[in-house]
Amino acid sequence: MEGPGAGTGPLLILGIETSCDETAAAVLDGGKIRSNVVSSQAQLHARFGGVVPEIASRHHLELVLPVVREALDGHEVDSVAVTQGPGLIGALLVGLSAAKALAWAWQLPLVPVDHLQGHVASLYLDPDPLEPPFVCLLASGGHTLLLDVQERGSFAILGSTLDDAAGEAFDKGARLLGLGYPGGAEIDRLARTGDPKAFEFPVARVPGLDFSFSGVKTALLYATRDLDIEERKADLAASYQNAIVRALAERTQEAAERTGADRIAIVGGVAANSELRAALPDAVAPPLELCIDNAAMIASAARYADAVPYPGYLALDAYAQAV
Ligand code: KG4
Ligand code: ZN
Repeated sequence: MEGPGAGTGPLLILGIETSCDETAAAVLDGGKIRSNVVSSQAQLHARFGGVVPEIASRHHLELVLPVVREALDGHEVDSVAVTQGPGLIGALLVGLSAAKALAWAWQLPLVPVDHLQGHVASLYLDPDPLEPPFVCLLASGGHTLLLDVQERGSFAILGSTLDDAAGEAFDKGARLLGLGYPGGAEIDRLARTGDPKAFEFPVARVPGLDFSFSGVKTALLYATRDLDIEERKADLAASYQNAIVRALAERTQEAAERTGADRIAIVGGVAANSELRAALPDAVAPPLELCIDNAAMIASAARYADAVPYPGYLALDAYAQAV
């Protein structure tokens, strides 16, 4: 019988992702997704208006093996990839422990993956894998970064947010408008019926290629104080979204000009936003299901990261903050 990876052709990678409120597992065959299972806990956290870390960890514990089993669907894999950080530490530890146990039991290598590298690697999947160099806007619930990507597996940070992440600004705005959690998709949907010019929400222009979204959130708060929110909800959502999208699109174009990059890519949950996609029509964006957290992107990043051979990974730790 052949041992792991003894066959020819691309190796199968099992990816596991539990950094926030999605429990996800995927099997990748080269750049081809064999399976991609995501179990979102968003509904569980909705009543609290945001992710409750302890609840997230407990649900990851319940879901991780069923989700992995569904993704595996009888496949035998050659390595196990897992998100090591950044994210919620308790949530990360569930995925990391499961990945270590599986890799150890199967005597396979383990590939610890950085979640942010994972988002970028969502661009390297079939059928149209992107080849660097490019400038990449990574906008999610936890991060807003402009990246200079010269080769797969690494990037240089050109700019980041000084306060809230773009997704966080969407989520907090949605909360002010009494919309559900997570708020980005809700605002996106409601904004389609509103007037983006109804309200002027200024977004601070900070020096360099950084972002700041705390001011626009405060502007929305003040606007909602003097209004019947119900009546103007769609206009508020459209104007608020427009302000965030304008800031993201302008800075991304500036980054491309400064670096001389001819190509722009957008990744992360906020890259699912329809107005952002329209504002950067030439940008490469993954399909919607690969913008939000998933494990296919983690397995994809594992192809360009260092594997730890069996059994040297048992002491590996998770990290909460970006390194
Ligand atoms: O990448 P992601 O799933 O998780 C993190 O790594 O944070 O991103 C989640 C974020 C949330 O803040 C959510 O509101 C936002 O992405 N998001 C959107 C849209 N869909 C998800 N923001 C704007 N428009 C959308 N359509
Ligand atoms: Zn993410």
